[in-house]
Amino acid sequence: MIWPVKKTLVLLAFAFVFAAISIDQTLAQQVSDAAKTEKTGKHSAALVNGYEPMWWKEAVVYQVYPRSFQDSNGDGIGDLNGITQHLDYLQNLGVNVIWLSPHYDSPNADNGYDIRDYRKVMKEFGTMADFDRMLSGIKARHMRLIIDLVVNHSSDEHRWFVESRSSKKNPYRDYYFWRDGKPNPADPAHPLPPNNYPSFFSGSAWQWDETTKQFYLHYFAVKQPDLNWDNPKVREDVFALMKFWLDKGVDGFRMDVIPLISKQPGLPDLTPQEMQDPPRLWANGPHRDEYLQQMNREVLSKYDVMTVGEAIGITLEEEPKIVNSDRHELNMVFNFDAVRVNRGDFYSEKKWKLPELKAIYDHHATALSKTDWDTVFLSNHDNPRLVSNFGDTSTAEFRVRSAKLIETMLMTLKGTPFIYQGDELAMTNYPFTKLNQFDDIEVKNAYKERVLGGKMAEAEFIAESQRFGRDNSRTPMQWSDAPNGGFTTPAAKPWLAVNPNYKEINAGQEQADPESVLHYTQRAIALHHAHLAFVYGDYKDLDPDNEQVYAFTRSLSMPGKPEERMLVVLNFGEKPVEYTLPGGMSAGKLVLANVPGTPEMGGSVLKLGAWDARVYTY
Ligand code: NOJ
Repeated sequence: MIWPVKKTLVLLAFAFVFAAISIDQTLAQQVSDAAKTEKTGKHSAALVNGYEPMWWKEAVVYQVYPRSFQDSNGDGIGDLNGITQHLDYLQNLGVNVIWLSPHYDSPNADNGYDIRDYRKVMKEFGTMADFDRMLSGIKARHMRLIIDLVVNHSSDEHRWFVESRSSKKNPYRDYYFWRDGKPNPADPAHPLPPNNYPSFFSGSAWQWDETTKQFYLHYFAVKQPDLNWDNPKVREDVFALMKFWLDKGVDGFRMDVIPLISKQPGLPDLTPQEMQDPPRLWANGPHRDEYLQQMNREVLSKYDVMTVGEAIGITLEEEPKIVNSDRHELNMVFNFDAVRVNRGDFYSEKKWKLPELKAIYDHHATALSKTDWDTVFLSNHDNPRLVSNFGDTSTAEFRVRSAKLIETMLMTLKGTPFIYQGDELAMTNYPFTKLNQFDDIEVKNAYKERVLGGKMAEAEFIAESQRFGRDNSRTPMQWSDAPNGGFTTPAAKPWLAVNPNYKEINAGQEQADPESVLHYTQRAIALHHAHLAFVYGDYKDLDPDNEQVYAFTRSLSMPGKPEERMLVVLNFGEKPVEYTLPGGMSAGKLVLANVPGTPEMGGSVLKLGAWDARVYTY
């Protein structure tokens, strides 16, 4: 008799969840329809709180790292058909844009961020027909797709580079940066690099090439030579490949390290001061804006697209140069101040306090004007797992609560929210204990430089890589409690090991539990879609110095509509607190809470338990 009872309960849970989803979606649809009626074609007729309404401002974006999402053919590597299999899952989650990390033909020195052919699909990921099927499945579900544009560099196996390195006279020579070395008195046969640039992936940013006896520049791996954007032919070729994908129907691009495309004239040595933070200089080359404006004029402006640049090396004050709509460059960028708030040099940890994070978000909300736009994110394929990085994984209960708290924050702060695959399940960092468990070139190269170079003890290096290494977020999606977490067939060996906690943390289990992080994230996304206050509303931090509670409001007035006044209260930690809202303020009706049974009405004093997150009207 036990089994049927259980089964009924599970079915009831499903019914509850689907009812909740359909209500949420109806609400979201109404809001987006209402917003649409205010728009005439691409541009809006009316401003909302001074902002021009745009679909990409109202979107919630979900990043898919294809290698780790779902393997459909049992080779241990995720693929495009695997993504297509889960489009209903993404639609039910409520996201409306998918950002796909590189899917192009690549020798995978840096997991696809080294592209060999920009017009071809990586064979491990499938075929162009698979891509087209995936894209039409996305469109059929009223979602959009942005793809990764990696054009600061290509692979050294790209045809342009193969030509370029073949001789100094080759027409493609100037597609890349080739320079003579500096004389090496100690060893004249082996010249020194042309300047002192370091690579992001350890060592010099210059690689000696025997064929023509010159060095080439690579900010990243040796197999990622930097393209020379000063050459108009490079720009022409990049613009053509962008059009190729836009004409297929993709809805925009996430642009990899895009501020780095304009190099410093003459490539002089970095001064000791510049050496402290080379990307600051590299991101501010003299032609960056000119090239982005040309890209916008010749390509982007001809399509209805979303563009988001990875703004490495750009301060918040500099952001408007790229995102201000009058500049005609990109829609928005990723600024790293928040996601790196707890990071020291490389993978070292920096102690941080909540007011620092609040100050960053306050800065975002105040430093940008109504003609700028911004993103909000705390994870991606280059950072640790969201809940391991900013939440609390010490107990299962705190993991769940703190993950929900962070999702609440991301869906209510200012900016287009981006979530990374698996964070909606509160997947955690991997328990790495040795070097050979890592795949990432960044870790492997840093090990050589730091540990083998005698700068750091191995145990310390592994501990830091376990904390901050990029492979933490790249372990396969945990779909079920089946072997390999349902990511691939039981007999296959996943390209990177599945986190051993997949039996407890997986999508199947969370789908069946209405109180799971997955269902909560669905509700938080639905809430975001249901209130334009979370998109265009003003932001006010109510208590900037409070080290435990983050309380802020989002409010929006629109002609002919009741004012939307939303209050977000987050208890960042396990310590309960009786929190008196500042300024005699009183919380009204509860619209979202991460703890079941939270009282429906707020009041001026809120009893907050461990990692309590609440959204009220006020
Ligand atoms: C930034 C990407 O996010 C990262 O994964 C990659 O290694 C570098 N750019 C180089 O493309």
